[in-house]
Amino acid sequence: MTTAPEATTYRLIDGKQTAEAIKEEIAAEVTQLKAAGHKVPHLAAILVGHDGGSETYVRNKVLACERVGFESTLLRYEDTITEAELLAKVEELNHDPEIDGFIVQLPLPRHIDTNKVIEAVMPEKDVDGFHPMNIGRMVAGLPALLPATPSGIVELLRRYELVTDGKHCVVIGRSNIVGTPVSILLAKNLEPGNCTVTLCHSRTQNLAEITRTADILVAALGRPEFVTADMVKPGAVVIDVGTTRVEDATKKSGWALKGDVNFAEVAPLTSYITPVPGGVGPMTIAMLLLNTLRAAKGEVYPKQA
Ligand code: GUN
Repeated sequence: MTTAPEATTYRLIDGKQTAEAIKEEIAAEVTQLKAAGHKVPHLAAILVGHDGGSETYVRNKVLACERVGFESTLLRYEDTITEAELLAKVEELNHDPEIDGFIVQLPLPRHIDTNKVIEAVMPEKDVDGFHPMNIGRMVAGLPALLPATPSGIVELLRRYELVTDGKHCVVIGRSNIVGTPVSILLAKNLEPGNCTVTLCHSRTQNLAEITRTADILVAALGRPEFVTADMVKPGAVVIDVGTTRVEDATKKSGWALKGDVNFAEVAPLTSYITPVPGGVGPMTIAMLLLNTLRAAKGEVYPKQA
């Protein structure tokens, strides 16, 4: 006989509110920097083409800069830009003393080698934390500019005081942006951290069997409502990184944002869960701002006098 998993009263992990708190802390620091006669941090974003999701993210990043008192610059290019032209823009930003950090919004058009562009960004200005230098330093436990979404997840666990030490964390999805780095961060001897981490991906066998053993389940595979109730241990903490646009005629925009977790059936089983929208998404932007502040202050890579 099988028994139905036990339902619990769950709590929402409010990423929107947490991100607001972080932005207030950053804004206070910007006020202090200004009062001490320093320039305010300046973030630049390169957006290539007209992908709807990327447009929204970049717009939100620019608005967030205004909100905390940063300067921001948006550089837009058509998707006909050549790789050489884009690399030249990156090189310009690398050497622009006004710019403390910049990002190249992904995905890029297929004719551009994304890795080449990521490697062209100076590690000191790589506020996305995607450059191999920053990834390598993160793996080695050295000070680094950390990728924003993984550090946003860690920050949510910290601020909600969720125990991670000794817990089994299962990550679904091995992307360079989220799955791989978050699995590294949560396995480190840090607080939060010290998890036993299992990194699952498209070739994983018996996925549900593994995810059912997770105390902390991170869904970062980009498939709407992939995680269902049968994949979740009662009482687990569930972090939903998915943000896929799906058609929804009831919305003015014609689409709705869907997470990787079937929220309606999974939430009642969990102890804590992030919603979509309003969970991990706003944290990514807050952590990008924090990286920009750290880059401006030369915290990781001291600035030349
Ligand atoms: N595309 C999806 N997520 C990200 C991100 O965090 N940074 C950049 N630059 N592009 C993305």
